[in-house]
Amino acid sequence: MDLATPPVTSPSAYSPSKETVRNAHISGRAAYDRLVAEAEADHEAYWARLAREFITWKTPFTKVLDERNAPFFKWFEDGTLNASYNCLDRNIERGLGQKTALIFEADDGAVTHVTYEELLERVCRTANALRSLGVQKGDRVVIYMSMSVDGVVAMQACARIGAIHSVVFGGFSSQALRDRIADTGAVVVLTADQQVRGGKHLPLKAVVDDALALGGCESVRNVLVTRRTGGAVPFTAPRDLWMADLLAVQPTTCEPEWVSAEHPLFLLYTSGSTGKPKGVQHSTGGYLLHAALTCKWTFDLKPEDVFWCTADIGWVTGHTYIAYGPLALGATEVVFEGVPTYPDAGRFWKMIQDHLVTVFYTAPTAIRSLIKAAESTPTAHPRNYDLSSLRILGSVGEPINPAAWEWYHQHIGGGRCPIVDTFWQTETGGHMITPLPGAHDLVPGSCSLPFPGIAADVVDEAGNPVPWGQGGILVVKKPWPAMIRNVWGDPERYKSSYYPQDFQGRYYLAGDGAIRDAVTGNFTITGRIDDVLNVSGHRMGTMEIESALVSCTRLVAEAAVVGRPDDTTGEAICAFVVLKGTLPAGPDAAAIAGELRSWIAREIGPIAKPKDIRFAENLPKTRSGKIMRRLLRSVAKGETSTQDTSTLENPAILEQLGQAY
Ligand code: PRX
Repeated sequence: MDLATPPVTSPSAYSPSKETVRNAHISGRAAYDRLVAEAEADHEAYWARLAREFITWKTPFTKVLDERNAPFFKWFEDGTLNASYNCLDRNIERGLGQKTALIFEADDGAVTHVTYEELLERVCRTANALRSLGVQKGDRVVIYMSMSVDGVVAMQACARIGAIHSVVFGGFSSQALRDRIADTGAVVVLTADQQVRGGKHLPLKAVVDDALALGGCESVRNVLVTRRTGGAVPFTAPRDLWMADLLAVQPTTCEPEWVSAEHPLFLLYTSGSTGKPKGVQHSTGGYLLHAALTCKWTFDLKPEDVFWCTADIGWVTGHTYIAYGPLALGATEVVFEGVPTYPDAGRFWKMIQDHLVTVFYTAPTAIRSLIKAAESTPTAHPRNYDLSSLRILGSVGEPINPAAWEWYHQHIGGGRCPIVDTFWQTETGGHMITPLPGAHDLVPGSCSLPFPGIAADVVDEAGNPVPWGQGGILVVKKPWPAMIRNVWGDPERYKSSYYPQDFQGRYYLAGDGAIRDAVTGNFTITGRIDDVLNVSGHRMGTMEIESALVSCTRLVAEAAVVGRPDDTTGEAICAFVVLKGTLPAGPDAAAIAGELRSWIAREIGPIAKPKDIRFAENLPKTRSGKIMRRLLRSVAKGETSTQDTSTLENPAILEQLGQAY
């Protein structure tokens, strides 16, 4: 386990302006401290108060937290609610029917506004369509769609009828899609004919067909297809149905299915350090509470705000901060189909200007690549756009390096917008450690302090607290409402991954290292302490990529994958491969590396393609046969290793491993 100890006390803190503090929901550090004290005094009473404030319950809960079967915690279990009712009907009942819920901008720039009333009608029709096909409460529905109003509608429609959705990112391959469909046992797959990104039409329906043809998906009865491009797609009757035909005959209202707060709202697959991706199971009540609450406090969201989260609905950020949180608050949000660099790298800035975006939430990777673009293409520089509507900026998914933070602050935020660097995970449901804009001083590179009610701390390997200023393991000491409930179909994996016996099963283990500032106690995340990589904010397990490589049995005998730091993507994938044939060199090696990259794209998706592939006759191993990953990480970084290599069978392979293709 690498527990880095970087320098901690960063002198450059930015204080929020008086105006920001005055107008913020959580106004001033004292207000934050009061909330923390309230939660510390009575954890359950604190969360119960907020659950009553933020959620409209059909039947109120009488018990807050059930710890009897820990670590399988239950929150608000006897309360009943419906997530879609809370996101749609409730806003209309409050007079927001004509308010714009979604501002959708397509890849080609076409803009559609959807009001809360229109959104509700679309959700009801889709929910009725699903019901007409026999989809019931608790059934799983896989959604394989790109960023679209239909994608959000699909998620909300599942929630309306108590079906459990599992969105699969539109960039995943047929194999990855098949694995997820098979694991969920989905009865229906919702997709579109094609997706449009950066002016290109890319397949969706065809990938679904390939996935189903791979076998193991016999649970799927129907595939519902939305028309996006009108491109020709394969169609298998009676399994496949056009969504438009189904919707045309559906009633425009749909009685919500009232479910227990513990009813699963969705499954979302994410990578772990071992084996196949795990289906993170989230609840309805606790999850929705945190989605709404964090949207309000972290983004200081007000009724007049225009919120834009640039994430894809295929990731958890797109769930919490597109499909649920903003809608639960009755906010107006932007949904963007395209990519930040099309038609040019000024696209984000133009969209902020055009839609008068006030709160903007994106990933460090996007910022870093747009900095490069702005430097090389003057027309893409944010100075060409009027960004004065902005008041708060957010960052998510990976550490934001101070240089990128400063640029974001100065060039996008005009030096006046607080940046909330939000640390959280698929498993946590929403923000865990983050500044609140009117409460905290901001230090570039630090995600500040825990969200009130989140008992985050840094401990050593025995679970003892480490002093501020010393690196350690990030844990959460008390359960919280939005936490993961289970790994779908694998409770043992849930326990061993998140409540390991190292800490006697007492603490939630995030899988990250952290360090608290010696003076302020601010948290800095030092990175994963397991074999999980974070490439452009996308989480990937090294084992997953390794198994994909060795499944290419024609070429590969053995493979090991590690991460190495990368200026743009944060981390880059570096694969060390032992081939079945002789060690290739020059153009032959480059050709095989290309072949292996395409293989990975087919097995997992283009996001998992290794940046470096290196060939050797063997991998460095200890006497007991364990791959020396630490050594491989140094080789990947180009470091001259000081590690003991005396156990290597063939020291010459170190030189071979240094050569990238
Ligand atoms: O390593 C942390 C990193 O991303 C991981 C979670 O990835 P995922 O489940 O895909 O969720 C991403 C979106 C919430 C964490 O274990 N991470 C996330 N946010 C930050 C971060 N690392 C540093 N700073 C952050 N703000």
